[in-house]
Amino acid sequence: MRLWGLASACVAAILCSTASAAGTTTTYRDPDTGLVFAEYAIQYQIGRTLVFRVAVPTQVQSLTAYDAVLQVIAPIDAGWLGFAWGGRMIGDPLAVAWTNNGQSVVLSSRRATDHASVPGINTAAQYTILKAGTHVNRTHFQYTAHCTGCTYYSNSAGAKTWLYSTGTNHLAFAYSGTRPSNPSSNSSSLTIHDVTNNWDHDFSVGQNANFADLVAKNS
Ligand code: HEM
Ligand SMILES: *[C@@H]1O[C@H](CO)[C@@H](O)[C@H](O)[C@H]1NC(C)=O
Ligand SMILES: *[C@@H]1O[C@H](CO)[C@@H](O)[C@H](O)[C@H]1NC(C)=O
Repeated sequence: MRLWGLASACVAAILCSTASAAGTTTTYRDPDTGLVFAEYAIQYQIGRTLVFRVAVPTQVQSLTAYDAVLQVIAPIDAGWLGFAWGGRMIGDPLAVAWTNNGQSVVLSSRRATDHASVPGINTAAQYTILKAGTHVNRTHFQYTAHCTGCTYYSNSAGAKTWLYSTGTNHLAFAYSGTRPSNPSSNSSSLTIHDVTNNWDHDFSVGQNANFADLVAKNS
């Protein structure tokens, strides 16, 4: 199962030894959607990179729910790729994506209650794909999705948890080289990841004054 257990350990060592170079969130101005994203790139294997981008509205009242747009790029060999809004597997919104036989991107909203079962469907976080930022080509797949319910959620202890719209959030990914058993369905079963890792993502560089207009324009 743990195909890249070794590679994962090496990646962790690299990240630890070059923490300043690796730990940077940069601004990405997306020509496809017009949104400004806070971008973080991270390797899951030597030479294989995942890109995670988050766009948020400006002037979010602190400690309230707000919508966000997530843009993710993965090499086409990914069986499935998970993004954890709360930086852990259990109790936070998970965005899990894969391709339907290399044709289109399938995005699934999940939440895990333990480390033993396949994360269940999460109706508290709803995604809408923005077509302009979503495609599959020979080398990569990319999706862009508007989320309601990803930034303010009930954690595994039942307590409300927030992501800081103007600050740094501890996020996580999970990568699997194995495809879901029923790739055309967003409720497909999954098998365990080969690699997981965490990073600190600074949302302050992904601010959008015209967030609602841009989401509407791209929906
Ligand atoms: C069949 C599905 C899954 C199984 C059986 C599973 C199982 C596990 C287990 C046993 C661990 C702890 C041991 C370790 O670190 O290797 C773990 C950790 C982790 N998993 Fe999963 N997992 C599944 C799906 C997912 C999905 C869809 C995500 C989405 C992001 C995810 C994210 C993580 C993360 C971030 C960790 C690191 C430690 C933590 O935050 O708990 N997992 N998983
Ligand atoms: C699957 O897609 C449908 C239609 O877009 C959506 O209503 C549903 O919430 C999605 N389910 C999951 C688990 O993401
Ligand atoms: C394929 O998609 C990726 C991700 O969007 C992009 O970086 C790359 O340039 C694309 N390749 C081609 C040949 O268009």
